Amino acid sequence: MVKAVNDQWNANLYDQSHSFVSRYGKDLVQLLAPREKEKILDLGCGTGDLAYKIWTLGANVTGVDKSINMVEQARSKYEDITFDVKDATELEYKEEFDAVFSNATLHWVKPPEKALYCIYRSLKHDGRFVAEFGGKGNVQTITNEIISEIQAEGMEFKEIQFPWFYPSIGEYTTLMEIAGFRVTYAEHYNRPTKLDGEQGLKNWIKMFGGQLFSGIDEQQKQDIISRVENNLREVLFTEGNWHADYKRIRVVGKKEANINL
Ligand code: BEZ
Repeated sequence: MVKAVNDQWNANLYDQSHSFVSRYGKDLVQLLAPREKEKILDLGCGTGDLAYKIWTLGANVTGVDKSINMVEQARSKYEDITFDVKDATELEYKEEFDAVFSNATLHWVKPPEKALYCIYRSLKHDGRFVAEFGGKGNVQTITNEIISEIQAEGMEFKEIQFPWFYPSIGEYTTLMEIAGFRVTYAEHYNRPTKLDGEQGLKNWIKMFGGQLFSGIDEQQKQDIISRVENNLREVLFTEGNWHADYKRIRVVGKKEANINL
């Protein structure tokens, strides 16, 4: 069971302003190609929109997320689907699912080896793991600028303040193989992502980037964000919207032998 503390996620704000996350994820559902009655785990289900999409295709889906706020919102939106609070590194399932699906989550999960071990163990023999998340260089234009503005204030930026894991295909598929998977597909691609309106970058930083500013007071944080906006306007702001430099990795792995159980 996951502790109910420090839930950074505002599920309503997520649904109102960041619904692009599940919109883009619909492509990944096609890659998953769920079949009727298959048991599927949606790992990092957020407020449940993709679990629902998978459920409408006839699969028996369970959604899990570390955030209680997200899980409560998912339960209130989709009463026919089971949603549970679980940490990707502490899953206790054993050979239960035909597929584990994960969209826009695994860049938050450390250590990745532990999550991959749990994912592999959750799958039935011949099960598949289909995932997409931030890859090497993801949103680097934005994070580099924030870090350099924090340092320009004379403050140290510690590695622990960086919340994400953005691997290359080489790094991640190697970890998948070590966990036991046969990797059948891997892609690393640019997906510039529109952040709506003048406030788009600021809203994104506030929604997702809080940890970058740990130990920094609110006024200093606002000042840094304003300078980041000024510095990046020329590169990331066009036609009334901000465009974040998302870079995704997308992978498929098969569980073909029970060597790691
Ligand atoms: C992503 O989906 O790549 C992402 C989302 C929020 C913060 C950082 C990365």
